[in-house]
Amino acid sequence: MKVAVLGAAGGIGQALSLLLKNQLPAGSELRLYDIAPVTPGVAVDLSHIPTDVAICGFGGEDPTPALQDADLVMISAGLARKPGMDRSDLFKFNAGIIQNLIEKCVQACPKACIGIITNPVNTLVPIAAQVLKKAGVYDKRKLFGVTTLDVIRSNTFVAQAKNRSVSGLDVTVIGGHSGVTILPLLSQIPGVEFSPQEIDSLTKRIQNAGTEVVEAKAGGGSATLSMGQAACRFALSVVRGLQGESDVIECAYVEGDGQHAPFFAQPVKLGKEGAEAVLDFGSLSQYEQQALQGMLDTLQADIQKGLDF
Ligand code: NAD
Ligand code: LMR
Repeated sequence: MKVAVLGAAGGIGQALSLLLKNQLPAGSELRLYDIAPVTPGVAVDLSHIPTDVAICGFGGEDPTPALQDADLVMISAGLARKPGMDRSDLFKFNAGIIQNLIEKCVQACPKACIGIITNPVNTLVPIAAQVLKKAGVYDKRKLFGVTTLDVIRSNTFVAQAKNRSVSGLDVTVIGGHSGVTILPLLSQIPGVEFSPQEIDSLTKRIQNAGTEVVEAKAGGGSATLSMGQAACRFALSVVRGLQGESDVIECAYVEGDGQHAPFFAQPVKLGKEGAEAVLDFGSLSQYEQQALQGMLDTLQADIQKGLDF
C-alpha cells in the first residue's frame, strides 16, 4: 500500500505518520508531504524506527512526488482553530488548500482513496468532490470526511460515564463533523442504558469535545494526538478494505443515498474499491430523531457553501 499524508509536519500529521510507520502492513510505503521545510527531516526521524514500512518526505510547493500512484491520501493540511473560532471560520483559509491538493491528486493518483481531516470537514468534502467531478475522476466510494474522532470520543466518554471498560464499545456517530451535526447514537449501544439527562449531557459533550480541547490548549491549536489515533484507525481500516478484508466498517462522511443530505456521516463498508456500501444506521430514539431533524439545515448550509465555492 502506498499511503500519502499531506500536512505531515503538523500536529496531526506527525502523530498520524508515527502511528502509520508502526502499523501499516509490512511492505507499505509511507510518503509525507508538507509545505514546512522540516518535512524531509520528519521522515528521516521516523525512518529510524525498525518496521517494514518504507518512508520518505517531501517539502516545497508540489506534493506530486508524495502522491504518485498512491492508494490512500490522508489530508490534514491547513489551519486549526483557536479559542473563540468555529470550524466554519477555517473555511476561508482551508478551502483553497484543499482545492489545490485535490487538483494534484487528480493528476498523480486519480484512483486513490482520499480521507479529508482538515476542517471544516462538512464543507471541504463537497469542495473536493466538485474538483474531482470537474476533472472527470470522481468516484464517491473513494472520498471520505474523517469523522472517526467523534467515534473514539464517544467510546471514551460512554465508558467513563458508565464506569466500564471501553473494550467492545463502538458508538455509531452520524451527520457531520461540527456542533449539532455530530450525532452519537447512544440508544443503540448494546447493554447500556442511559437516563434522559445522561443522554443529553453526553451528546452535548461529544458535540463540544473539539472545543473542549481547543480551550484546554489555550491558543496552542486543536486536537492532534487523539486525532492522529483516530486518523490512523480510519486509514488502517481503508487499507484493510483495499487489501480485500471483509466486514471492515467505519463511520465516515460520504456522499450516500442523499436521504438526509447529499453528504452525511454514517457507517460504511470498506472494500477493494473504497466505500462499497453505505449502511443503514438503524432506528433512532425520539431524542435522536429530533436531533437529526434539528441538524439538517446547518448541514445543508455547510454543504451548499462548499458546492458554491
Ligand atoms: P497544524 O497547524 O499543526 O498542522 C497543519 C499543517 O498543514 C502544517 O504543518 C502546515 O505547514 C501544513 N500545511 C498548510 N498548508 C499546506 C499545504 N498547502 N500543503 C501541505 N501542507 C500544508 O494543524 P493540525 O492540528 O494538524 O490540524 C490540521 C487540520 O485538521 C485543521 O484544519 C484542524 O481543524 C483539522 N482537524 C480535524 C479533525 C477531524 O476530526 N476531522 C480533528 C482535529 C483537527
Ligand atoms: C475536533 O473535533 O477536535 C476537530 O474538529 C478540531 C476542532 O477544531 O475542534
